[in-house]
Amino acid sequence: MLLFVCFAWLLCSQHSSARPMSKVLRNADTYQAAHDISKKAQNPETRDETSLRLISRVSPNQTLDQNAEICCLHANILDFYLLNVLQSSDSFHPAMPRLKTDLRRISQDLSHNGCNVTHYQDHQNAVEFREKLITMQGQRGITKAIGEIDILFSYLQDFCVQN
Ligand SMILES: *[C@@H]1O[C@H](CO)[C@@H](O)[C@H](O)[C@H]1NC(C)=O
Ligand SMILES: *[C@@H]1O[C@H](CO)[C@@H](O)[C@H](O)[C@H]1NC(C)=O
Repeated sequence: MLLFVCFAWLLCSQHSSARPMSKVLRNADTYQAAHDISKKAQNPETRDETSLRLISRVSPNQTLDQNAEICCLHANILDFYLLNVLQSSDSFHPAMPRLKTDLRRISQDLSHNGCNVTHYQDHQNAVEFREKLITMQGQRGITKAIGEIDILFSYLQDFCVQN
């Protein structure tokens, strides 16, 4: 409950002028599901690998054009999650089926709002994400990627906005 209040407050205080490109990005239950599922995947076995991040860091202050690019780049990574990482993950967490439905909806909304996901297939960050994931091999890579769903979700929240 407290978390929800803080979350709602953050939304009101930080994003009052910016409209999300998908309403689902402002859904507190979706946020909570992404948070819970990431936490479950961040198990002690993978802790020594926390320095290795699959999703590259992006600088928070960007121009509006750069915002749109970062948004659509992560829409590309989101589609990779939907088509690969989360393909057979429904039993990982009770909230996973719901989160997948919500992420699919976000992906559709971003496409309808002008993201050409294919265009970002060869972007350095998208390529590096896929290469690091492949290097980690099999279930370890999948679990590591699931542990970064909260990062992916927060980047989409931050950058997929229209002013
Ligand atoms: C980002 O914003 C902070 C604070 O507004 C500022 O100090 C910093 O120089 C900015 N960085 C870039 C790369 O614009
Ligand atoms: C999307 O991007 C791809 C690759 O850059 C390009 O070939 C295609 O024409 C673009 N589609 C649209 C609708 O702009």
